[in-house]
Amino acid sequence: MRVLVTGGAGFVGANLIRYLLASAPEVEALVNLDALTYAGNLHSLDEVEADPRYAFVRADIADRAAVDALCREHKFDVLINCAAESHVDRSILDPGVFVRTNVLGTQVLLEAARSHEVPRYCQVSTDEVYGTLGPADPPFTERTPLAPNSPYSASKAGADLLCRSYHRTFGLPVIVTRCSNNYGPYQFPEKFIPLCITNALEDRELPLYGDGMQVRDWIHVRDHCAGVWAAATRGRPGEVYNFGAGEERPNLEIARRILSALGKPEALVRFVKDRPAHDRRYAMDAAMARDELGWRAAYAFDQGLEETVAWYRAHRPWWEAVKSGAYRAYYARQYGDR
Ligand code: NAD
Ligand code: TYD
Repeated sequence: MRVLVTGGAGFVGANLIRYLLASAPEVEALVNLDALTYAGNLHSLDEVEADPRYAFVRADIADRAAVDALCREHKFDVLINCAAESHVDRSILDPGVFVRTNVLGTQVLLEAARSHEVPRYCQVSTDEVYGTLGPADPPFTERTPLAPNSPYSASKAGADLLCRSYHRTFGLPVIVTRCSNNYGPYQFPEKFIPLCITNALEDRELPLYGDGMQVRDWIHVRDHCAGVWAAATRGRPGEVYNFGAGEERPNLEIARRILSALGKPEALVRFVKDRPAHDRRYAMDAAMARDELGWRAAYAFDQGLEETVAWYRAHRPWWEAVKSGAYRAYYARQYGDR
Protein backbone atom coordinates (compact mmCIF):
# COMPACT_ATOMS: atom_id res chain seq x y z
CA MET A 1 0.00 0.00 0.00
CA ARG A 2 1.14 3.50 -0.79
CA VAL A 3 0.28 5.81 2.08
CA LEU A 4 0.20 9.58 2.47
CA VAL A 5 0.32 10.80 6.07
CA THR A 6 -0.09 14.55 6.51
CA GLY A 7 1.17 16.22 9.67
CA GLY A 8 3.67 13.40 10.18
CA ALA A 9 6.13 15.63 12.04
CA GLY A 10 3.57 16.21 14.79
CA PHE A 11 2.80 14.05 17.80
CA VAL A 12 0.14 11.71 16.42
CA GLY A 13 1.54 11.73 12.88
CA ALA A 14 5.10 10.84 13.94
CA ASN A 15 3.86 8.04 16.17
CA LEU A 16 1.64 6.79 13.33
CA ILE A 17 4.55 6.75 10.86
CA ARG A 18 6.78 4.92 13.32
CA TYR A 19 3.96 2.47 14.05
CA LEU A 20 3.26 1.78 10.36
CA LEU A 21 6.88 1.31 9.35
CA ALA A 22 7.43 -1.05 12.29
CA SER A 23 4.18 -3.01 12.30
CA ALA A 24 2.36 -2.79 8.94
CA PRO A 25 4.25 -4.92 6.37
CA GLU A 26 1.59 -4.06 3.78
CA VAL A 27 2.94 -0.49 3.66
CA GLU A 28 5.38 -0.36 0.73
CA ALA A 29 5.74 3.44 0.52
CA LEU A 30 4.93 6.19 2.99
CA VAL A 31 5.11 9.91 2.26
CA ASN A 32 4.97 12.42 5.10
CA LEU A 33 3.65 15.81 4.03
CA ASP A 34 4.10 18.46 6.71
CA ALA A 35 4.41 22.24 6.69
CA LEU A 36 6.72 22.16 9.74
CA THR A 37 4.86 24.72 11.81
CA TYR A 38 6.01 25.32 15.40
CA ALA A 39 4.49 21.89 16.22
CA GLY A 40 6.38 19.93 13.57
CA ASN A 41 9.60 18.30 14.69
CA LEU A 42 11.46 16.02 12.29
CA HIS A 43 13.70 14.80 15.11
CA SER A 44 10.74 12.68 16.16
CA LEU A 45 11.40 10.69 12.98
CA ASP A 46 15.19 10.45 13.13
CA GLU A 47 15.13 6.64 13.31
CA VAL A 48 12.97 6.19 10.21
CA GLU A 49 14.57 8.86 8.04
CA ALA A 50 16.81 6.34 6.27
CA ASP A 51 14.04 3.77 5.69
CA PRO A 52 13.75 3.34 1.88
CA ARG A 53 9.95 3.22 2.15
CA TYR A 54 9.83 6.68 3.76
CA ALA A 55 9.95 10.14 2.18
CA PHE A 56 9.35 13.62 3.57
CA VAL A 57 7.86 16.56 1.67
CA ARG A 58 7.58 19.99 3.20
CA ALA A 59 4.27 21.48 2.04
CA ASP A 60 1.09 23.03 3.32
CA ILE A 61 -2.10 20.96 3.13
CA ALA A 62 -3.93 24.10 2.02
CA ASP A 63 -1.59 24.42 -1.00
CA ARG A 64 -3.69 22.84 -3.73
CA ALA A 65 -0.93 22.72 -6.34
CA ALA A 66 1.53 20.98 -4.01
CA VAL A 67 -1.02 18.43 -2.78
CA ASP A 68 -2.19 17.78 -6.33
CA ALA A 69 1.32 17.22 -7.65
CA LEU A 70 2.09 14.79 -4.86
CA CYS A 71 -1.08 12.76 -5.40
CA ARG A 72 -0.47 12.65 -9.14
CA GLU A 73 3.09 11.42 -8.65
CA HIS A 74 2.42 8.78 -6.00
CA LYS A 75 -1.02 7.29 -6.70
CA PHE A 76 -1.74 6.76 -3.01
CA ASP A 77 -3.94 3.91 -1.78
CA VAL A 78 -4.63 5.65 1.52
CA LEU A 79 -4.51 9.28 2.65
CA ILE A 80 -4.49 9.87 6.42
CA ASN A 81 -4.85 13.49 7.51
CA CYS A 82 -3.09 14.21 10.80
CA ALA A 83 -2.08 17.77 9.88
CA ALA A 84 -3.79 20.34 12.05
CA GLU A 85 -3.51 23.21 14.41
CA SER A 86 -4.16 21.26 17.57
CA HIS A 87 -3.87 23.35 20.72
CA VAL A 88 -7.04 24.78 22.30
CA ASP A 89 -5.24 27.65 24.06
CA ARG A 90 -3.65 28.81 20.81
CA SER A 91 -7.06 28.71 19.10
CA ILE A 92 -8.34 31.15 21.71
CA LEU A 93 -5.46 33.53 20.96
CA ASP A 94 -5.56 33.20 17.15
CA PRO A 95 -8.56 31.34 15.67
CA GLY A 96 -7.90 32.25 12.01
CA VAL A 97 -5.05 29.83 11.40
CA PHE A 98 -7.22 27.01 12.78
CA VAL A 99 -9.88 27.67 10.17
CA ARG A 100 -7.28 27.89 7.42
CA THR A 101 -5.46 24.66 8.21
CA ASN A 102 -8.18 22.54 9.76
CA VAL A 103 -11.11 23.50 7.53
CA LEU A 104 -9.63 24.80 4.29
CA GLY A 105 -6.66 22.41 4.41
CA THR A 106 -8.99 19.45 4.88
CA GLN A 107 -11.12 20.58 1.94
CA VAL A 108 -8.02 20.78 -0.28
CA LEU A 109 -7.07 17.21 0.71
CA LEU A 110 -10.59 15.95 0.10
CA GLU A 111 -10.62 17.59 -3.31
CA ALA A 112 -7.25 16.04 -4.20
CA ALA A 113 -8.48 12.62 -3.02
CA ARG A 114 -11.54 13.07 -5.20
CA SER A 115 -9.75 14.15 -8.36
CA HIS A 116 -7.01 11.51 -8.02
CA GLU A 117 -9.48 8.79 -6.97
CA VAL A 118 -7.63 7.90 -3.77
CA PRO A 119 -9.45 4.74 -2.61
CA ARG A 120 -9.39 5.52 1.15
CA TYR A 121 -9.35 8.86 2.96
CA CYS A 122 -9.08 8.91 6.76
CA GLN A 123 -9.67 12.11 8.72
CA VAL A 124 -8.10 12.06 12.19
CA SER A 125 -10.48 13.98 14.42
CA THR A 126 -11.18 14.44 18.08
CA ASP A 127 -13.73 13.86 20.85
CA GLU A 128 -13.74 17.63 21.40
CA VAL A 129 -16.19 18.09 18.51
CA TYR A 130 -18.91 16.66 20.81
CA GLY A 131 -18.49 19.43 23.40
CA THR A 132 -18.57 18.75 27.11
CA LEU A 133 -20.18 16.20 29.47
CA GLY A 134 -21.69 16.54 32.94
CA PRO A 135 -20.41 14.19 35.68
CA ALA A 136 -23.26 11.67 35.26
CA ASP A 137 -23.66 11.81 31.48
CA PRO A 138 -22.98 8.68 29.40
CA PRO A 139 -19.85 8.82 27.20
CA PHE A 140 -20.01 10.30 23.69
CA THR A 141 -21.09 7.92 20.93
CA GLU A 142 -20.71 8.46 17.18
CA ARG A 143 -24.34 9.65 17.17
CA THR A 144 -23.86 12.36 19.81
CA PRO A 145 -24.64 15.74 18.20
CA LEU A 146 -21.64 17.97 17.51
CA ALA A 147 -21.40 20.90 19.96
CA PRO A 148 -17.84 22.29 19.85
CA ASN A 149 -16.92 25.00 22.36
CA SER A 150 -13.48 26.26 21.26
CA PRO A 151 -12.30 27.61 17.90
CA TYR A 152 -10.09 24.50 17.73
CA SER A 153 -12.94 22.04 18.18
CA ALA A 154 -15.23 24.11 15.95
CA SER A 155 -12.66 23.97 13.15
CA LYS A 156 -12.31 20.20 13.61
CA ALA A 157 -16.11 19.80 13.55
CA GLY A 158 -16.22 21.87 10.34
CA ALA A 159 -13.65 19.52 8.79
CA ASP A 160 -15.62 16.45 9.91
CA LEU A 161 -18.75 17.83 8.26
CA LEU A 162 -16.87 18.51 5.04
CA CYS A 163 -15.74 14.88 5.12
CA ARG A 164 -19.34 13.77 5.52
CA SER A 165 -20.40 15.96 2.61
CA TYR A 166 -17.67 14.62 0.31
CA HIS A 167 -18.87 11.12 1.05
CA ARG A 168 -22.54 11.95 0.55
CA THR A 169 -22.17 14.24 -2.46
CA PHE A 170 -19.26 12.73 -4.35
CA GLY A 171 -19.16 9.18 -3.00
CA LEU A 172 -15.61 9.72 -1.71
CA PRO A 173 -14.63 6.81 0.58
CA VAL A 174 -14.04 8.90 3.71
CA ILE A 175 -13.66 7.57 7.24
CA VAL A 176 -13.53 9.89 10.25
CA THR A 177 -11.89 8.82 13.51
CA ARG A 178 -12.50 10.68 16.76
CA CYS A 179 -10.15 10.00 19.62
CA SER A 180 -9.89 11.17 23.20
CA ASN A 181 -6.80 12.87 24.68
CA ASN A 182 -3.55 11.12 23.76
CA TYR A 183 -0.35 10.88 25.76
CA GLY A 184 2.98 9.22 24.98
CA PRO A 185 6.38 9.91 23.42
CA TYR A 186 7.08 12.91 21.17
CA GLN A 187 4.17 15.05 22.41
CA PHE A 188 4.84 18.77 22.23
CA PRO A 189 5.31 20.07 25.79
CA GLU A 190 2.56 22.68 25.49
CA LYS A 191 0.04 19.87 26.06
CA PHE A 192 -0.89 18.98 29.62
CA ILE A 193 0.93 15.70 30.34
CA PRO A 194 4.30 16.51 28.71
CA LEU A 195 4.10 20.04 30.16
CA CYS A 196 3.68 18.62 33.65
CA ILE A 197 6.45 16.03 33.20
CA THR A 198 9.01 18.43 31.74
CA ASN A 199 8.19 21.23 34.19
CA ALA A 200 8.54 18.79 37.09
CA LEU A 201 11.89 17.59 35.71
CA GLU A 202 13.02 21.24 35.69
CA ASP A 203 11.59 21.90 39.19
CA ARG A 204 9.14 24.37 37.71
CA GLU A 205 5.48 24.80 38.69
CA LEU A 206 2.70 22.74 37.07
CA PRO A 207 -0.09 25.14 35.99
CA LEU A 208 -3.57 23.73 36.71
CA TYR A 209 -6.46 25.60 35.13
CA GLY A 210 -9.32 26.50 37.48
CA ASP A 211 -9.92 23.85 40.14
CA GLY A 212 -7.96 21.16 38.25
CA MET A 213 -10.97 18.82 38.34
CA GLN A 214 -11.61 18.72 34.59
CA VAL A 215 -11.71 15.13 33.34
CA ARG A 216 -10.18 13.65 30.18
CA ASP A 217 -10.35 10.05 28.91
CA TRP A 218 -6.63 9.38 28.38
CA ILE A 219 -5.38 6.98 25.73
CA HIS A 220 -1.85 6.00 24.77
CA VAL A 221 -0.92 7.36 21.35
CA ARG A 222 0.06 3.89 20.12
CA ASP A 223 -3.47 2.62 20.77
CA HIS A 224 -4.79 5.60 18.84
CA CYS A 225 -2.45 4.84 15.92
CA ALA A 226 -3.56 1.20 15.79
CA GLY A 227 -7.17 2.43 15.69
CA VAL A 228 -6.51 4.92 12.92
CA TRP A 229 -4.87 2.27 10.75
CA ALA A 230 -7.70 -0.21 11.40
CA ALA A 231 -10.30 2.42 10.48
CA ALA A 232 -8.33 3.69 7.47
CA THR A 233 -7.98 0.21 6.00
CA ARG A 234 -11.08 -1.63 7.28
CA GLY A 235 -13.60 1.02 8.33
CA ARG A 236 -16.83 1.52 6.44
CA PRO A 237 -16.70 4.57 4.15
CA GLY A 238 -18.95 7.35 5.41
CA GLU A 239 -18.64 6.17 9.02
CA VAL A 240 -17.21 7.74 12.14
CA TYR A 241 -15.27 5.67 14.70
CA ASN A 242 -14.71 6.80 18.30
CA PHE A 243 -11.57 5.74 20.17
CA GLY A 244 -11.02 6.01 23.89
CA ALA A 245 -9.52 3.84 26.61
CA GLY A 246 -12.13 4.40 29.33
CA GLU A 247 -9.42 5.90 31.55
CA GLU A 248 -11.09 9.02 32.91
CA ARG A 249 -8.88 11.05 35.23
CA PRO A 250 -9.07 14.60 36.66
CA ASN A 251 -6.11 16.82 35.78
CA LEU A 252 -5.11 17.33 39.40
CA GLU A 253 -4.75 13.58 39.97
CA ILE A 254 -2.47 13.33 36.92
CA ALA A 255 -0.30 16.23 38.06
CA ARG A 256 0.08 14.64 41.50
CA ARG A 257 0.98 11.26 40.04
CA ILE A 258 3.63 12.78 37.82
CA LEU A 259 5.16 14.64 40.76
CA SER A 260 5.15 11.49 42.85
CA ALA A 261 6.68 9.38 40.04
CA LEU A 262 9.52 11.91 39.78
CA GLY A 263 9.95 12.33 43.54
CA LYS A 264 8.99 16.02 43.38
CA PRO A 265 6.95 17.95 45.99
CA GLU A 266 3.20 18.51 45.59
CA ALA A 267 3.88 22.18 46.29
CA LEU A 268 4.84 22.47 42.60
CA VAL A 269 1.11 22.38 41.72
CA ARG A 270 -0.07 25.90 40.97
CA PHE A 271 -3.72 26.76 40.34
CA VAL A 272 -4.02 29.42 37.64
CA LYS A 273 -6.82 31.26 35.84
CA ASP A 274 -9.17 28.93 34.00
CA ARG A 275 -9.35 28.61 30.20
CA PRO A 276 -12.48 30.29 28.73
CA ALA A 277 -15.25 27.78 27.86
CA HIS A 278 -13.11 25.01 29.36
CA ASP A 279 -14.81 21.67 28.66
CA ARG A 280 -15.41 19.95 31.98
CA ARG A 281 -15.38 16.31 30.96
CA TYR A 282 -14.76 14.11 27.93
CA ALA A 283 -15.46 10.37 27.78
CA MET A 284 -15.70 8.10 24.76
CA ASP A 285 -17.85 5.08 23.99
CA ALA A 286 -15.59 3.00 21.71
CA ALA A 287 -17.98 0.05 21.29
CA MET A 288 -18.32 0.54 17.56
CA ALA A 289 -14.54 0.39 17.00
CA ARG A 290 -14.40 -2.75 19.14
CA ASP A 291 -17.31 -4.46 17.37
CA GLU A 292 -16.53 -3.50 13.77
CA LEU A 293 -12.75 -3.14 13.73
CA GLY A 294 -11.80 -5.57 16.50
CA TRP A 295 -9.88 -2.69 18.08
CA ARG A 296 -9.26 -2.22 21.77
CA ALA A 297 -6.83 -0.18 23.83
CA ALA A 298 -3.87 -2.26 24.96
CA TYR A 299 -2.39 0.22 27.45
CA ALA A 300 -3.64 0.65 31.01
CA PHE A 301 -3.21 4.29 31.99
CA ASP A 302 -0.97 3.56 35.00
CA GLN A 303 1.47 1.57 32.86
CA GLY A 304 1.30 4.06 29.98
CA LEU A 305 1.90 7.09 32.20
CA GLU A 306 4.83 5.39 33.92
CA GLU A 307 6.42 4.59 30.53
CA THR A 308 5.78 8.12 29.31
CA VAL A 309 7.41 9.69 32.36
CA ALA A 310 10.39 7.37 31.80
CA TRP A 311 10.51 8.35 28.12
CA TYR A 312 10.70 12.09 28.86
CA ARG A 313 13.32 11.41 31.51
CA ALA A 314 15.42 9.49 28.97
CA HIS A 315 14.87 11.92 26.07
CA ARG A 316 15.83 15.21 27.64
CA PRO A 317 17.62 16.51 24.49
CA TRP A 318 14.39 16.05 22.46
CA TRP A 319 12.18 18.17 24.71
CA GLU A 320 14.86 20.64 25.77
CA ALA A 321 15.39 21.51 22.11
CA VAL A 322 11.63 21.99 21.75
CA LYS A 323 11.31 24.14 24.86
CA SER A 324 14.31 26.28 23.93
CA GLY A 325 13.24 26.55 20.28
CA ALA A 326 16.57 25.07 19.11
CA TYR A 327 14.78 22.47 16.96
CA ARG A 328 13.79 25.29 14.59
CA ALA A 329 17.44 25.84 13.65
CA TYR A 330 17.43 22.37 12.11
CA TYR A 331 14.74 23.43 9.61
CA ALA A 332 16.53 26.63 8.79
CA ARG A 333 19.54 24.50 7.82
CA GLN A 334 17.62 21.78 5.99
CA TYR A 335 14.72 23.53 4.35
CA GLY A 336 15.14 27.28 4.78
CA ASP A 337 12.82 28.74 7.39
CA ARG A 338 9.49 30.43 6.91
P1 NAD B 1 0.47 18.43 16.59
O1 NAD B 1 0.17 19.87 16.78
O2 NAD B 1 1.46 17.75 17.47
O3 NAD B 1 0.97 18.18 15.09
C1 NAD B 1 0.38 18.78 13.98
C2 NAD B 1 1.30 18.62 12.78
O4 NAD B 1 0.63 19.20 11.64
C3 NAD B 1 2.64 19.34 12.91
O5 NAD B 1 3.68 18.52 12.46
C4 NAD B 1 2.49 20.56 12.00
O6 NAD B 1 3.73 20.99 11.44
C5 NAD B 1 1.55 20.03 10.94
N1 NAD B 1 0.78 21.10 10.29
C6 NAD B 1 0.10 22.13 10.87
N2 NAD B 1 -0.45 22.91 9.94
C7 NAD B 1 -0.15 22.34 8.73
C8 NAD B 1 -0.47 22.67 7.38
N3 NAD B 1 -1.21 23.74 7.08
N4 NAD B 1 -0.01 21.87 6.41
C9 NAD B 1 0.74 20.78 6.69
N5 NAD B 1 1.09 20.43 7.95
C10 NAD B 1 0.64 21.20 8.95
O7 NAD B 1 -0.95 17.71 16.67
P2 NAD B 1 -1.30 16.21 17.10
O8 NAD B 1 -1.49 16.15 18.55
O9 NAD B 1 -0.34 15.30 16.42
O10 NAD B 1 -2.73 16.05 16.42
C11 NAD B 1 -2.85 15.59 15.09
C12 NAD B 1 -4.30 15.36 14.78
O11 NAD B 1 -4.82 14.40 15.70
C13 NAD B 1 -5.16 16.62 14.94
O12 NAD B 1 -6.07 16.69 13.88
C14 NAD B 1 -5.89 16.41 16.23
O13 NAD B 1 -7.17 17.00 16.18
C15 NAD B 1 -6.00 14.90 16.28
N6 NAD B 1 -6.11 14.40 17.65
C16 NAD B 1 -5.11 14.61 18.54
C17 NAD B 1 -5.26 14.17 19.84
C18 NAD B 1 -4.20 14.42 20.88
O14 NAD B 1 -4.45 14.18 22.05
N7 NAD B 1 -3.02 14.88 20.52
C19 NAD B 1 -6.42 13.50 20.23
C20 NAD B 1 -7.41 13.28 19.28
C21 NAD B 1 -7.25 13.74 17.99
P1 TYD C 1 -4.62 19.90 26.74
O1 TYD C 1 -3.43 19.01 26.78
O2 TYD C 1 -4.45 21.30 26.25
O3 TYD C 1 -5.73 19.13 25.89
P2 TYD C 1 -7.29 19.52 25.63
O4 TYD C 1 -7.53 20.89 26.12
O5 TYD C 1 -7.35 19.44 24.15
O6 TYD C 1 -8.08 18.50 26.35
O7 TYD C 1 -5.27 19.98 28.18
C1 TYD C 1 -5.69 18.81 28.87
C2 TYD C 1 -6.39 19.28 30.14
O8 TYD C 1 -5.42 19.92 30.98
C3 TYD C 1 -7.47 20.31 29.89
O9 TYD C 1 -8.52 20.12 30.84
C4 TYD C 1 -6.78 21.63 30.15
C5 TYD C 1 -5.80 21.27 31.25
N1 TYD C 1 -4.56 22.08 31.28
C6 TYD C 1 -4.15 22.67 32.48
O10 TYD C 1 -4.81 22.55 33.52
N2 TYD C 1 -3.00 23.39 32.47
C7 TYD C 1 -2.25 23.56 31.34
O11 TYD C 1 -1.19 24.26 31.39
C8 TYD C 1 -2.67 22.95 30.12
C9 TYD C 1 -1.88 23.11 28.85
C10 TYD C 1 -3.84 22.20 30.15
